Amino acid sequence: MRLKVSGRARLNGVFSVAGDKSISHRALLLGAIAEGETIVENCLVAEDVLSTIHCLQSLGVQIEGVGTTNVKVHGVGGANFSAPISNLDCGNSGTTMRLLMGILAAHEFESWLTGDSSLQKRPMDRVAIPLQRMGAKVEGRTERFLPPIRMHGSKLRPIEWSLPVASAQAKSAILLAGLFADGTTIVQEPAPSRDHTERMLRAFGAKVIVRNLTVAVIGKGKLSGTKIVVPNDPSSASFFLCAAAAVPDAEVTAMSISINPTRTGYLEVLRQMGAKVIVNNERTQAGEPVADVTVCGSKLRSMTIAGELIPRTIDELPVLAAIATVAEGTTIIKEAQELRVKESDRIAAMVSELRKLGAQVEELPDGMVIYGKGKLLGAEVESHGDHRIAMALSIAGLLAEGETIVNDAHCITVSFPQFPKVLASLGVEVEMA
Ligand code: S3P
Repeated sequence: MRLKVSGRARLNGVFSVAGDKSISHRALLLGAIAEGETIVENCLVAEDVLSTIHCLQSLGVQIEGVGTTNVKVHGVGGANFSAPISNLDCGNSGTTMRLLMGILAAHEFESWLTGDSSLQKRPMDRVAIPLQRMGAKVEGRTERFLPPIRMHGSKLRPIEWSLPVASAQAKSAILLAGLFADGTTIVQEPAPSRDHTERMLRAFGAKVIVRNLTVAVIGKGKLSGTKIVVPNDPSSASFFLCAAAAVPDAEVTAMSISINPTRTGYLEVLRQMGAKVIVNNERTQAGEPVADVTVCGSKLRSMTIAGELIPRTIDELPVLAAIATVAEGTTIIKEAQELRVKESDRIAAMVSELRKLGAQVEELPDGMVIYGKGKLLGAEVESHGDHRIAMALSIAGLLAEGETIVNDAHCITVSFPQFPKVLASLGVEVEMA
């Protein structure tokens, strides 16, 4: 599938995106190991979350409402999955693989986790090594533990682990394994990453203690099924909010998105670049702060995105790079080497594709330099099989003159199948071909 976007759109309107991907995965996984039923409302229906659902079904978990936004999970109550008879296919989803590895570490049977060609290139060592230390057997290809991954769980001992990178997936995998260990498992990270696991563990009744950059979970507690109403996904909303920021006179509002501070780094970036960001109707939903967020466009100025902002903007860096091409001055993204091990090498992908649109961009080992105020010209660009690259390039396309074609755009179904529809509803001419 190709996405054709006409440039120089005016963006206006109010929109809703589907449920948050990270929170949907976690609600399903925690529901699966809890006692009793868990209801997940506003669950994201997209390929990544379907990968989690299918893996759980292969592990013997009963799930009702698959393919709808209202899902009921019948928890097995502890490390009570059944041994799967075939490989667990995590598709494109790193969250599915890494979080499941944490749970499977406590299951005393053999399982194999695999995924698509992108996932098979992603390192699992950040999860495999601490899980081995807890007592699980974990094998993968090369010393980076590339999938397929073979797991053989066992009785686990608690560990104290300092993560070399701020990664919510790695932190969550260790915490999930820690639920089954006899004692307290402690994880420390170098900078705050998304904390949905910590928040949701509490909602299921687990004992979690958070102090600055350290999280502790007390093992062998009981998790009880509950109801989780998933907030709308701020990363999906970011494409339109960032686009609006870059179009003077644009105004768009995202309804009911999570404004968890570990996710809203991009709103701070937009403010610093000169856009107006208004947060209305703040409330709490499933232990997560939620609000309606309006962004009004303006002439943007450049900035440097680095340090603790990186884990808090990690999934939005491609779209922020796209809008930085029209900002005044030079934008620098650095200390973001994590982007190289996402669904694609997002540094290389954005640099090569933005150049095709006429942007002046330089590649850094850990980021990029974007020389702003460029005049983008519509062109044919490649998604690199990565959903966020496909959508970020569509946004670059709407800032360009003429028409942009994003090839191989089917991958948007990984996180946000409604992307073209929402874009069109805000006044952009978009076509799927
Ligand atoms: C996610 C964590 C982040 C993020 C990914 C989803 C999660 O990855 O990029 O899209 O749900 O925990 P890392 O933990 O690898 O940083």
